[in-house]
Formats: sequence, C-alpha cells, structure tokens
Amino acid sequence: MEIIRTPQEMQRRALELERAGHMVGFVPTMGFLHDGHLSLMHLARSRCDVLVASIFVNPAQFGPNEDLDAYPRDFARDEALCEAAGVDIVFYPEPASMYASDASVWIDETRLSQGLCGASRPGHFRGVCTVVAKLFNLVRPDVAVFGEKDAQQLRIIERMVRDLDFPVEIVRGPTVREADGLAMSSRNKYLDASQRRDALCLKRSLDEVTDMVRQGERQVAVLRDAMADGIGKVAAAAIDYIEFVDDATLVPVQLVEGRTLVAMAVKIGPTRLIDNAVLEP
Ligand code: PAJ
Repeated sequence: MEIIRTPQEMQRRALELERAGHMVGFVPTMGFLHDGHLSLMHLARSRCDVLVASIFVNPAQFGPNEDLDAYPRDFARDEALCEAAGVDIVFYPEPASMYASDASVWIDETRLSQGLCGASRPGHFRGVCTVVAKLFNLVRPDVAVFGEKDAQQLRIIERMVRDLDFPVEIVRGPTVREADGLAMSSRNKYLDASQRRDALCLKRSLDEVTDMVRQGERQVAVLRDAMADGIGKVAAAAIDYIEFVDDATLVPVQLVEGRTLVAMAVKIGPTRLIDNAVLEP
C-alpha cells in the first residue's frame, strides 16, 4: 500500500493511473476509521481496480466553536485498517498543503444545504463541497462512495457532481450500526458509558416513527412529537433538530406521502450525533 503525503504527488499518480487505463475507486474520510468507513471501502473495491482512500480532517468544514482540535486521530491504526480493507493508495495530506493561506475560491451549494445540518452548522457544507471537489481533482476517481449516515452531505455531493459535471459516479453506502443500533461514528469515541447508553435514543426514535408510518400515521407533527417525547425522557439528550423532508429535494413536508427522509441531530452531553431513516408510506 502506498501512502501519499502531498497534493502534487497525489495528482501526478492519479494522472499516471488514468493514462494506464485504470478504474479508480475513492473513499474520502476524516480518519479514525470504523466499520462504516470500511464498508464503503469494500463497496468501492468491488467497483474498481485501484482503490484510493483519503484521511484528512478538513479544517474548512468545522465552525469556530466546533471540535476540530479534539477530533480523534490515529494514523497508525487507520493505515493498518486500510491495508486490511484492500486499499492501494492512502492520501494523507498535511492541512497546510491543502489550502493556500490566501485561498479565496469556495464551492457553495445553495439549496440542499439550507436546512438540517446546514442550518445549525453555517459554512459546514461549503467546507465539505470545497474539499471534496479538491479531492476529486487530485484523485480523479471513476467511482466515489459516500455513506447514507450523512444523508444531507451525500445528496449535496450528488448535486455538486451533477451541476459542475464532475466525471465521477457517486455510489451510496448504507449506514453501518453497532449491534445495539447506534450508528457508527468517529465521534462516538467522545461518549462515556452512560452517554453511550443514552445515545441509543436516536435510533430508538427512528424505529418508533418507522413503525408508526407502517401502521398508517402520516402527520409529521404527530411523528415529530413522538420522537421528541422519547428523546425528552433522556436527561442528557438535547435535540438540535428533527426534520421530515422530501428525500430528493430536502424540502420540509407536513405529511409522509412520498419517500421522506427523517433526519436528526441530538446532543448527548457535549457530543452532537446525527442519524436518519427513509420513510416509505
Ligand atoms: P467522515 O465522517 O470520516 O466520513 C467519511 C465517509 O464515511 C462519509 O461518506 C460518511 O457518510 C461515511 N460514514 C460515516 N459513518 C458511517 C456509517 N456508520 N455507516 C456508513 N458510512 C458511514 O464525512 C466525512 O468524513 C467528511 O465530511 C468528508 C466527506 C471526508 C469530507 O471531509
């Protein structure tokens, strides 16, 4: 497995692979890898002959009061996991090499990023789109895999690729969960034992509304109340948002009539966790 530390070298290598006719698969990550990331690598592996993963905690997508410095990092462990997952090239750049100190061009998605996490994390998706566009230009993948766990991010990247004609196919990877249902996340590391138990309220509330919809409930107000009631019983939990939106446009809905994404962000103590489900009436 190769480890590439500079954008120049990554792009040089990518052009070489392209000229040699390789099918390049790509999984961008911020590292501290878990089985969710690895499942995306396995999915990408089956679609390409050269698999590239990137590990880069992207400063541009963190707000001033967010956890950029605290974000967990363990490159030695990530390297071993990538190797075991069949990654051919790990791109692991220094932050200073990715952004010029006077960088002044950014990619702003202006519709899908208005609500949900975009509303509570101003500038977040600008940072995500910009870094993903840069990574696409450096890695030049044929296929890139993103997780459903970050449902809004996935839809925004698909929109960016469509609207800016990036020559890459975006593949969706299903959310991987712990045995008890908690969606895997690098941020789960912040949870102590009691917060870890409390964190189950996210998936529990998603399961509850999935059942209610199956039994015929269509009113978003009723569904949202049921979720808020369940989460309200957990003292350490504070709801950032619970939203029901059209799965394709991310526009809020009042009734679950078509494919509806229910997305949520909940703080468990200081740790902000997200999860989502697709409701199909
Ligand atoms: P990160 O949070 O490290 O996630 C990298 C990829 O793994 C994303 O596509 C994310 O949706 C996916 N992922 C995370 N948890 C998952 C789970 N439990 N099951 C399945 N997939 C999961 O998302 C980012 O990094 C960054 O925003 C990035 C796209 C790399 C840009 O900096």
